[in-house]
Amino acid sequence: MAKARFVGIDLGTSTSALAHVRPDGNPEIVPNADGERLTPSVVFFDQFDGIKLIGSAARDGGDPERTVHHIKKHMDDPSYTVNMDGQKWTPTEISAMILSKLKKECSKITGEIHDVVITVPANFNELARKATVTAGKLAGLNVMRLVNEPTAAALFYAQTQDISGRILVYDLGGGTLDITILEVDGDNIDILLSEGARHLGGSDFDEVLLEILSEEYRKQNGAELFSNERQRRRCLTLGEDAKKMLSKLQKVSETVGNESDGIARIDLSRQTFEDAIQRLLTRTVMLVEQACDQVDLKPTDIDHVVLVGGSTRIPRVAEILEKQFGKPPVSCGNVDECVALGAALFAQRSRRVSEVCNHSYGTIAIIEDGSTGEAVVQNSVVIPKNTPIPCSMSQTYITSEDNEELIEVEITQGEDTDPRYVDIVGKIALEVPPGRKAGCEVTVTYSYDENQRVRAQIFDAESGLKKDIAIEYKGEGVLSDEDVERKTAYLKQIKIA
Ligand SMILES: Nc1ncnc2c1ncn2[C@@H]1O[C@H](COP(=O)(O)OP(=O)(O)OP(=O)(O)O)[C@@H](O)[C@H]1O
Ligand SMILES: [Mg+2]
Repeated sequence: MAKARFVGIDLGTSTSALAHVRPDGNPEIVPNADGERLTPSVVFFDQFDGIKLIGSAARDGGDPERTVHHIKKHMDDPSYTVNMDGQKWTPTEISAMILSKLKKECSKITGEIHDVVITVPANFNELARKATVTAGKLAGLNVMRLVNEPTAAALFYAQTQDISGRILVYDLGGGTLDITILEVDGDNIDILLSEGARHLGGSDFDEVLLEILSEEYRKQNGAELFSNERQRRRCLTLGEDAKKMLSKLQKVSETVGNESDGIARIDLSRQTFEDAIQRLLTRTVMLVEQACDQVDLKPTDIDHVVLVGGSTRIPRVAEILEKQFGKPPVSCGNVDECVALGAALFAQRSRRVSEVCNHSYGTIAIIEDGSTGEAVVQNSVVIPKNTPIPCSMSQTYITSEDNEELIEVEITQGEDTDPRYVDIVGKIALEVPPGRKAGCEVTVTYSYDENQRVRAQIFDAESGLKKDIAIEYKGEGVLSDEDVERKTAYLKQIKIA
């Protein structure tokens, strides 16, 4: 089979999509074997033939206890597993099943898919990024690189809508809000800032709608709308359908309930729904404001606000952004496809995109407090978050004890000065000659490449010795190469449909 070229995958919380770049240079979504452009990121574990059902059939059909939704929310949790029929599945493995379906089914249209770019939320941490790359490997893919979702979307808008200048990408999906401010000038895209909120998106709106339905049902029927997870899931899906209709209609009517407590007809208006989620939407506005503040921009400095993510179809979203920026935001229409389309363009690398680093990297050091003169143990940031990459930055420290023979530098990820609130992602140790006094200069240098990979170097001035390591998150939940190989083989022989 021919080989597919320039493939991008948006592995989303609620839906995933795969796109490729056509020979004429335009990106296009490749449908799955069910004929759908968006594949629900849902896995159903069939109990009869052991088939793993992925997509709409999984979302709409089966027993909720055997159905896995929103696995992406757990990609950064090394201890999270889905327990099914005595077997434990990690978020990485579940994600690999979704990717396997896309690879298998889309390959029939594009030719064999192997090299891909996968998108991740800008605020995914090291562990979640690593887990995403591993999910790709388990599905038999070579993940050439990860790209932040808003960067991919911006590339799509820049290329297809001819948008340039200072752009704010407002991406409200199923699970997360991502805000990115970037500058597009001809072929160059410079990311100024990427911020976001985990756990703020369409599934929160679904919960709000479920509450409205439950409350109304209680009023009408004097009973609870659902009494088990299966019923709750069904009501959530009904609510989600109503939510989508309310993006087009002012009023909808839902029929809910059950045989024992009775059926209720509940009228829902767009106004009621939008008012109920106003609190969450206001939070997104505040986050947008904070993002602009961080790069010293006023709303009037932003040339275009662009919409990404299925939840931006809610009319109130465009309204609040128009109020905030004094001009209507731009929507390309296919707001839930543009991340995958941009990822495909990324795979083709038709434009030069410069990104920023997603995390601060630093080290633990004893620092004298400016006001009290007291020595305190602090996280000292060497590369601050949102520094344009590739970059390399250094800090020089002095040793604090006599006769130190081993200089150890703990590599931290996180912004907080308090060491308790940052992650230790690595350690670098350098043996130095004995018999030295305190006060020797040690320089720590971190460099960040365009693939968000980080290297650390430690240099001891007195001895001239140095050591250089790649920072690899090897903590709990990260699979060894042997594990990856074994699991890839295992996943290959399970039936995915
Ligand atoms: N017409 C619509 N009106 C309101 N919400 C919608 C509409 N269409 C889709 N959504 C919501 O959009 C969300 C899915 O959006 P999208 O596919 O962009 O998210 P995702 O990429 O899976 O999530 P994330 O980007 O957070 O990982 C769902 O919560 C869905 O209910
Ligand atoms: Mg998305």
